[in-house]
Amino acid sequence: MTRGGLILAVESSCDETGIAIVEDGRRIHSNVVASQVAMHAAAGGIVPEVAARAHLRWIVPVLDEAWAAAGVTWADVSAVAVTNGPGLAGSLLVGINFAKTLAYVHAKPLIPVNHLEGHLYAAWLVDEAREVPEPLFPLVALIVSGGHTFLIEMRDHLQYRLLGETVDDAAGEAFDKVGRLLGLPYPGGPEIMRAAAGATRHDVAFPRAWLGDSFDFSFSGLKTAARRTIAAETGGQGTSAGETPLADDRVAELAYGFQESVVDVLVAKTIRAARVAGARSVVLGGGVAANRVLRDRLAAAAQNAGLPLVVPRPGLCTDNGAMIAAAGARRMEAGVRAGLDLDAKPSLPLARR
Ligand SMILES: Nc1ncnc2c1ncn2[C@@H]1O[C@H](COP(=O)(O)OP(=O)(O)OP(=O)(O)O)[C@@H](O)[C@H]1O
Ligand SMILES: [Mg+2]
Repeated sequence: MTRGGLILAVESSCDETGIAIVEDGRRIHSNVVASQVAMHAAAGGIVPEVAARAHLRWIVPVLDEAWAAAGVTWADVSAVAVTNGPGLAGSLLVGINFAKTLAYVHAKPLIPVNHLEGHLYAAWLVDEAREVPEPLFPLVALIVSGGHTFLIEMRDHLQYRLLGETVDDAAGEAFDKVGRLLGLPYPGGPEIMRAAAGATRHDVAFPRAWLGDSFDFSFSGLKTAARRTIAAETGGQGTSAGETPLADDRVAELAYGFQESVVDVLVAKTIRAARVAGARSVVLGGGVAANRVLRDRLAAAAQNAGLPLVVPRPGLCTDNGAMIAAAGARRMEAGVRAGLDLDAKPSLPLARR
């Protein structure tokens, strides 16, 4: 067990309390997630204090369930991994202090993990449902989540070079904001995907921000274009989550047009970056990677370019503990350890250009 045997990992950076037990950074013994999505839906977004309190409420039951599902003992566990950033300070603190206590009382090493590194390493998790190849280096990874959108080049494990990132909104944030403008419930990402699938007309053309040869992204212009179109069509009457004067058909068409703009740019830039970097594989991760259109379109483009695409199943794209264990295993192998003074780093970066 070169990658440290069994790792127990804790994820609490945002609005999901996740605890997983994973072997060798790849085989999932248990992966339990308590999502606060329904709770935050009423507010139309995440309220940080409410999120931190919910983590406090749920972290022990989530551990109990993960433990019961894995059927292992502490003697089998070689380390405790935990997300120490980026994320919401209060939410991160709950997971960090919980993980610290577990590591201390069971005399296990504590491994700090960058949440975004977790989204990347979800690609190494074995999926029982289908054959997933291990990503080959060098690789280019597109990480698209609620708070981040970037392209990374990896020439080996734990080595990251930033190729491009969003200069304004993250892709997930754009989905959530436009979802809200369309009167769809929070979070907008899965709702827009569902609405767009029902569109019968496909002629809404929203702008695409190519930003020249750059591998950076921008979604604020698209969001503004969507807001203007919706305002014009509703006569300036505002929409709120769950309510809009637009007809369902029109919501579907606008959702389709928006999703096409986002997916087009994400796919084109990722494939071009992979070519420029001489990549041998492409990885897709982060919550927006749960989007079926993005997955299918990137898979087709990668196949055209002769590159294997590795994308975790949707449940492993959104926040979970297994992805933190996967990254934690590599970090453990590399000798990374944290002391009991480990603190939350809300803006922890992953890579530089
Ligand atoms: N099917 C989907 N289509 C598009 N977007 C989706 C889909 N499913 C989830 N998302 C989006 O993914 C985002 C959540 O992803 P994730 O949980 O990785 O984000 P986060 O953890 O809040 O942010 P970060 O990882 O940047 O800290 C939300 O913006 C949500 O709308
Ligand atoms: Mg995330």
